[in-house]
Amino acid sequence: MKYGYFDNENREYVITRPDAPAPWTNYLGTEKFCSVISHNAGGYAFYNSPEYNRITKFRTNASFDRPGHYVYLRDDDTGDYWSISWQPVAKSLNEANYEVRHGLSYSKFRCEYSSIVATKTLFVPKGEDVEIWDVVIRNTGDTPRKISAFSFVEFSFSHIASDNQNHQMSLYSAGTSYQQGVIEYDLFYNTDEFEGFYYLASTFEPDSYDGQRDQFLGLYRDESNPIAVEQGQCSNSAQTCYNHCGSLHKQFELQPGEEVRFAYLLGIGKGNGQRLRQHYQKPHNVDSAFAQIQQHWQQRCDQFQVRSPNPGLDTMINTWTLYQAETCVVWSRFASFIEVGGRTGLGYRDTAQDAISVPHTNPDKTRKRLIDLLRGQVQAGYGLHLFDPDWFDPDKADVAPSKSPTVVPTPSNEDKIHGIKDTCSDDHLWLIPTICRYVMETGDHDFIDQVIPYADGGEDTVYQHMKAALDFSALHVGQSGICKGLRADWNDCLNLGGGESAMVSFLHFWALQEFIALAQYRGKTQDAEHYTRMAADVKEACESELWDEEGGWYIRGLTQQGDKIGTAQQTEGRIHLESNTLAVLSGLAEPARGQQAMDAVDQHLFSDYGLHLNAPSFSTPNDDIGFVTRVYQGVKENGAIFSHPNPWAWVAEAKLGRGDRAMKFYDALNPYNQNDMIEKRIAEPYSYVQFVMGRDHQDHGRANHPWLTGTSGWAYFAVTNFILGIRTGFDALTIDPCIPTDWPGFEVTRQWRGARYVITVENPSGVSKGVKRIQLNGSAIEGDILAQPQGTVNHVVVTLG
Ligand code: IFM
Repeated sequence: MKYGYFDNENREYVITRPDAPAPWTNYLGTEKFCSVISHNAGGYAFYNSPEYNRITKFRTNASFDRPGHYVYLRDDDTGDYWSISWQPVAKSLNEANYEVRHGLSYSKFRCEYSSIVATKTLFVPKGEDVEIWDVVIRNTGDTPRKISAFSFVEFSFSHIASDNQNHQMSLYSAGTSYQQGVIEYDLFYNTDEFEGFYYLASTFEPDSYDGQRDQFLGLYRDESNPIAVEQGQCSNSAQTCYNHCGSLHKQFELQPGEEVRFAYLLGIGKGNGQRLRQHYQKPHNVDSAFAQIQQHWQQRCDQFQVRSPNPGLDTMINTWTLYQAETCVVWSRFASFIEVGGRTGLGYRDTAQDAISVPHTNPDKTRKRLIDLLRGQVQAGYGLHLFDPDWFDPDKADVAPSKSPTVVPTPSNEDKIHGIKDTCSDDHLWLIPTICRYVMETGDHDFIDQVIPYADGGEDTVYQHMKAALDFSALHVGQSGICKGLRADWNDCLNLGGGESAMVSFLHFWALQEFIALAQYRGKTQDAEHYTRMAADVKEACESELWDEEGGWYIRGLTQQGDKIGTAQQTEGRIHLESNTLAVLSGLAEPARGQQAMDAVDQHLFSDYGLHLNAPSFSTPNDDIGFVTRVYQGVKENGAIFSHPNPWAWVAEAKLGRGDRAMKFYDALNPYNQNDMIEKRIAEPYSYVQFVMGRDHQDHGRANHPWLTGTSGWAYFAVTNFILGIRTGFDALTIDPCIPTDWPGFEVTRQWRGARYVITVENPSGVSKGVKRIQLNGSAIEGDILAQPQGTVNHVVVTLG
């Protein structure tokens, strides 16, 4: 069953049936103001931190997505009313037509009902902290109409996300006021004229308004039937105390064929409402703000575009996977309909991995995130698992994290800097490949020499931070020489404590390879030799301790008692995805073992929806293994198709040269391929999700937790760098694809350091891997392509065979 389609030309997903089985969301905002909005206009806005600067309210975990950012329309002759989004009024789909276009940082709602066509485009312009609702109402009938428009948002009850359900103080210390087309909302006695000061404005002069939610909705009613809309008039309520909303109403008279255009503005900061309503009264200012958002994404998408025989891959890589990856870099795991702002901190490993995917489209943010993370690293080398970057930003030290002293905890140093007990054994290691990729992409070698403080005092160059990370993992090994599991490794639910994690040792090996290449490039011979010896020790320990001969795969680790996790002898958790994929991805596994391990992955973990994380799932609680054994079977880390490590398998297969297998794994997880089976998938088909129910769960195939997952960054990185095989190096571009044998070839345009590369890959012999010939601008070359002068357009023809 389908609810919409991909419109590639406009880079939009078009929802044609608004009764989709879940709220399908989008992200508005590219800087600090963000809204998470569903295809029914449910959702919420926040500024900078979804935990401490909630602008509008949202009911978490409700079975329907409300409240939202709504526009109601009312026929003032008949009293009939509806909303431009299907919800909350929900007119019968037999009488009304709805279409929603989720685009890159905007959502466009269209409704056709009763000879009125109305559109509402929501977006957050660059450079302003405001959400614009660009509304157009057109009379398509043949009689004059009187149509009233009403906005509705429910202002946040508190700055703090979790208090939004029950924080009674704002019943006494928050209030709305109205002046000239602007409802201003002041939380906590205006402690700050920016944060905590929200508004809803209109570019028209309103006929009536409501700042009091209960006046607008009426008693014993909800957003589906507000009394103000029913009666055609707000009650001009605005005062201190109680619950607050933003409704501005105006009646328009429309002749046949006539249309009216106006904007509502939802924003932050005292005085901004008046200023911006003047500005956006001129429609061309709305248009140019929208055009800037489109340019923003055009410029990013232009960095890498592919045309291949796989339309799902093209759609996702050219638009949606990049968009999702960028969203994760900007908003980490802060805010979605699942992650509702309960933690303001950056997840260390999440952010470090996300950032590997976008140095070409967003180098500034990648660099900023790396600095955030390096500041969150302690001298001993590990990263603070979850932290607010403002704590360690000298420029923000006095103001962090918010200026509302009554509500925001400012932790002491001891609280901020956790010890080994709470340390995750993998976090710091992800930094290294990301730093290397950032430098390879940008050529910003000075970054490696930049001095950055440690979270617990002292400072050193990025290069030394990297060494501290590698040394930490070398030091914290168990009896077998494998890295300790500590609080958890990548798998939050595998809590091994003093036990050992195969996955982390393989990751350590990968990080070492990346670092050694960097050290060699910089002429640091001693370091290169030292870390090469360290890598050899890691390899020896892994190969002697982790291979399960009977199963023909790598085990997942050892408990504190020395029991192996993930052997053929076991009935639960016999085989795991993370260790086997990273063994190959890291380059540690010799080809024969690597192939055997990945064959086992295919045999035991593959499903039509992607690769399971482990199989069979655990059914018996075992606290030596961790919380994973207490999660229901087939769910999340316990035997679900956990999306994030799936791309590790694509990279592993690409490294083994098995392009058909890599694409089989890619296609299974690709949400695009599930667009016509939404009755199974449920979640939006343009976003990877955190996990899909595994075969041990009755809802096998159901996709959960869209948007904020490391899957997007990894999917993007794996496809562009390893399947399409276009990788930047310190000085040169490598082209080394690994594609399905039935692909005749593909084309990519890639920007790199100011030059453009138009790459055609031909596959006349039907192979997966192996470059036979390469031509640059008509001349044959050997090996990699040296960076070409800025501003040049370079034609590259690669022949496989
Ligand atoms: O790796 C973690 C991530 O940091 C948060 N979500 C779950 C993943 C797997 O446990």
